[in-house]
Amino acid sequence: MNTKAPLIGVFDSGIGGLSVLRALQEALPHARYTYLADNAWAPYGERDADALHARVRSLITHWHSAAKLDLLVVACNTATAIAVEGLRSDLPHLPVVGIEPALKPAFATSRSRSIGVLATRATLQSARYLRLRDDCLSSASTISLQECCADGLAGAIESDDHAATRSLLEAYIGALLRALPDMDTLVLGCTHYPLVRNMVQDVAGMHVALMDPAEAVARRAVHLLGNAVKAGTPSGAPQWQCTGSPAMLTAAARRWLRRDVAVSPGSFDPPTASLVRPVVP
Ligand code: DGL
Repeated sequence: MNTKAPLIGVFDSGIGGLSVLRALQEALPHARYTYLADNAWAPYGERDADALHARVRSLITHWHSAAKLDLLVVACNTATAIAVEGLRSDLPHLPVVGIEPALKPAFATSRSRSIGVLATRATLQSARYLRLRDDCLSSASTISLQECCADGLAGAIESDDHAATRSLLEAYIGALLRALPDMDTLVLGCTHYPLVRNMVQDVAGMHVALMDPAEAVARRAVHLLGNAVKAGTPSGAPQWQCTGSPAMLTAAARRWLRRDVAVSPGSFDPPTASLVRPVVP
């Protein structure tokens, strides 16, 4: 393994960040990767924003102090929306790349000017998302934009429940299409959704363009790391850590990255005092 190569930390609530890791590995094959899934708390999307904010900041601060990351990719729209500004102030020397729903490319390319957005409730209700939406709407004319809070969808994908995933997609995309019969662009505002891209396309129709910002995130990482990872020997396998059961992460990595991974149960276990624990409803 090339131990001199920069170490990129990729964070998500669960398996969604694999859709971003895949794009990062294509763009930066010589970097080293470590992936952290907070799957003891997944899904994030319907959790209380203040609890999530505290959780993400303490978890990532602890992770960085142990792993010594060179770059952090918050491969989770929800965690970015809620905590990326806090993370940048907690870790001022660590370059941080967040992810946000791809409204800008959608506004730039939609021909029918009718755009749907599928994302978690926490993302769509965040001040960060509302600012992004207002910025896009104020600089565009004649756009019809419709959002849908996809409650339960990331959880169904996380647990690999195809029937539930399909029926939720039919309900949510059906609602978007009823509101916007001319919708030609659908923004996938959660990193879990590209993992079921074919099902989304099937439900939305082949004429609908799906917007996934993973490649833009990878380009941003390339820009921030500059020449540091342009050459050298390809890095070894990513390191995998999670706060809960490793079963879904292991199965998903096999399916999406076509590799076997070793993750031990609760392999990331920061001191209790530094973490907000899951609230059992
Ligand atoms: N994959 C994450 C996102 O992009 C989180 C989804 C969830 O845990 O609800 O928003």
